Amino acid sequence: MKKTVTKIGVLTSGGDAPGMNAAVRAVVRTGIYHGLEVFGIMRGYTGMVENDIFKMEGRSVANIIQRGGTILKTSRCKEFLTPEGRKKAYGNLKKLGIDGLVIIGGDGSFRGAQTFSNEYDIPCVGLPGTIDKDIAGTDFTIGFDTAVNTAVEAIDKIRDTADAHDRLFIIEVMGRDAGYIALHSGIATGAENILIPERKTDIEEVIKQLAEKERRHKLVNLIVVAEGDDFGGADEVAKIITQRLPMQEVRVCILGHIQRGGSPSCFDRLIASRMGYSAVECLLEGRHNVFVGMVNNRMHYTPLNEAVKKKQRISEEWMKIVKILAS
Ligand code: F6P
Repeated sequence: MKKTVTKIGVLTSGGDAPGMNAAVRAVVRTGIYHGLEVFGIMRGYTGMVENDIFKMEGRSVANIIQRGGTILKTSRCKEFLTPEGRKKAYGNLKKLGIDGLVIIGGDGSFRGAQTFSNEYDIPCVGLPGTIDKDIAGTDFTIGFDTAVNTAVEAIDKIRDTADAHDRLFIIEVMGRDAGYIALHSGIATGAENILIPERKTDIEEVIKQLAEKERRHKLVNLIVVAEGDDFGGADEVAKIITQRLPMQEVRVCILGHIQRGGSPSCFDRLIASRMGYSAVECLLEGRHNVFVGMVNNRMHYTPLNEAVKKKQRISEEWMKIVKILAS
């Protein structure tokens, strides 16, 4: 029987994601409901290493469920990647008697949690908080729905002006290693082409399709590119299309970090609340060193050791849908 926890720490790490605050709120309030002491750790693992940790009350998380960003702030902590950094972090947690951790972040943050929980006797539970949705073991991540809706709203606006001028727009969305925002927002806005890091971009094929559309006098085209596409971002794609198809009037729009901000959608608030609640239950029930995901609308637990090895796979069928619907 694993020993149960009495004092837990919660942190947000890596790129922020809308809904992280809702998750923090759920962890704090569920913890207090169960009689635990809850500590907020500032700026992700940096706060653990630098002892920037404070006691939280139910009121500490009042009025945050609707706010983007994260009240605990976040960072990508280099020191925590070193054994010395993790040792310092452990010492700080021990001093406060913290015996359980909830880590809200993406795959990099889970890697940190996995290493730490293998080295030290403090159980960790992860919550998938990333706009990228690139974590296997969950259908959704906290922040993805909001980010993708922000992208859709922006791309719809771009379509209006593209249509007015008969222009080709190349729109770059976030995703250094993952194409989910591009894929979902591209399908939802009727993009002609979607270029993502998970698939090799055949630029000749893109040009061939556009040339064929030019012959049909279809000049309004939207191409959605994930920033980490293997061919390059929107600027690279625009450069080559302009050279090869001089008749096309090409414009680029890089949506950037607006996709990470803003008030979380209802869906993100809901999954964040459910996952935050579940994370505390996991710590109490001795289901340790897992991350809490959601599969088919039910909570799903994946050992951190497995989570860091896998990536969510892009559906072949979705790629086919893009092709068929854009013709
Ligand atoms: O949080 C994930 C993410 O938004 C990626 O989509 C993006 O490539 C990266 O973070 C950008 O990170 P930063 O804000 O550090 O430039």
